[in-house]
Amino acid sequence: MSGTILVTGGAGFIGSNFVLRERLEKKRIVNLDLLTYAGNLLNLHELNDDPDYIFVKGDIGDPSLVGKLLDDYQPEAVVNFAAESHVDRSIESPESFVQTNIVGTYKLLEETLGYFRRLPAGRAERFRFLHVSTDEVYGSLGPSDPAFTENTPYAPNSPYSASKAGSDHLVRAYHHTFGLPALITNCSNNYGPRQFPEKLIPLTLLNALEGRPLPVYGDGLNIRDWLYVEDHCRALSLVLEKGKPGQTYNIGGSCEKTNIEIVKTLCALLDEIAPQSPHVPHSSLITFVKDRPGHDRRYAVDCSRLERELGWRAKETFETGLGKTIRWYMENTQWVQSVKSGAYRNWIARQYGE
Ligand code: NAD
Ligand code: TYD
Repeated sequence: MSGTILVTGGAGFIGSNFVLRERLEKKRIVNLDLLTYAGNLLNLHELNDDPDYIFVKGDIGDPSLVGKLLDDYQPEAVVNFAAESHVDRSIESPESFVQTNIVGTYKLLEETLGYFRRLPAGRAERFRFLHVSTDEVYGSLGPSDPAFTENTPYAPNSPYSASKAGSDHLVRAYHHTFGLPALITNCSNNYGPRQFPEKLIPLTLLNALEGRPLPVYGDGLNIRDWLYVEDHCRALSLVLEKGKPGQTYNIGGSCEKTNIEIVKTLCALLDEIAPQSPHVPHSSLITFVKDRPGHDRRYAVDCSRLERELGWRAKETFETGLGKTIRWYMENTQWVQSVKSGAYRNWIARQYGE
């Protein structure tokens, strides 16, 4: 074993991919996750018998639990993925976003600072708090604006991005004011295995396989910058290992696509993979629906700092990453069934009026 990391939100999409990666690197992992609708223990079933993986169900906003985990397991780093993460849900019901993303992060910071101050000098010097955030804090770009850099002013537009911006500011302040060795990463849209199918790519994929409508908001021309989740996780490991405390690192795929392009690409790939499906051509399932209120038009991330200073490069192209993603969802039918529980179906019914 080579050190312990306290991961929060490790049963979610990106967190679980990160936990699996860090176990391969022989880190001991303590995973604190509240298991909201987005947390799924099946994401980490392969670690069930692993003595160096410890799962704890609980809230980052519970100071006594967080304090006890820090004291008991003595981690060398805290990596904070725990969040409410879906923009549409934040529009329907912002409160849990304020509670977990802002208040929860504040409480986690407070406990971590207390722990950090109790560490002996050598270990304190190596300790890191890594806060995983989003490019959405920078707001929306016009068609010919340059991509977001780490110096782009924050201009969040949704309750989700506003709550993430609030948490980023608190993390920054805990570094600046109290000396907590914190780092922030702001990443673009992720896709890949284990993503809850309320987000565009898995929602489209699973609906298409079942011959259900593929909802595209507005005119379908909003642009996102897509990154395969394992490339994100590799960047996080690098930032933990070599990043400079107090620094922010943008992470992105340099892969801008309109939503309609994404949906059409998925349809064409499924036509090839399943030519015998009664739903071919899958593109006939595309349905334009009412736009999301306040829908950001374009995101694009300039990640040259990460490339220049830490030597990171994305390994997957959009084509290879999407191929891996489709295969994963087609092979993991038990996982797919498990997320199609009552809670998921209720959300789909409320959101799309089915
Ligand atoms: P997710 O919704 O799949 O997972 C979030 C996890 O946090 C779930 O397991 C959930 O149970 C847990 N959680 C929620 N509230 C909690 C609480 N109070 N205490 C403990 N655990 C709690 O999210 P994700 O897509 O994996 O995103 C992880 C992080 O990365 C988030 O902070 C998000 O803002 C950020 N991010 C996501 C993307 C993306 O494209 N998905 C891109 C950039 C940044
Ligand atoms: P999403 O996956 O929710 O990520 P985010 O809003 O955080 O970028 O959405 C990605 C894009 O896809 C966004 O522009 C909204 C759009 N979208 C649809 O067109 N239809 C859908 O059903 C969903 C969930 C998203």
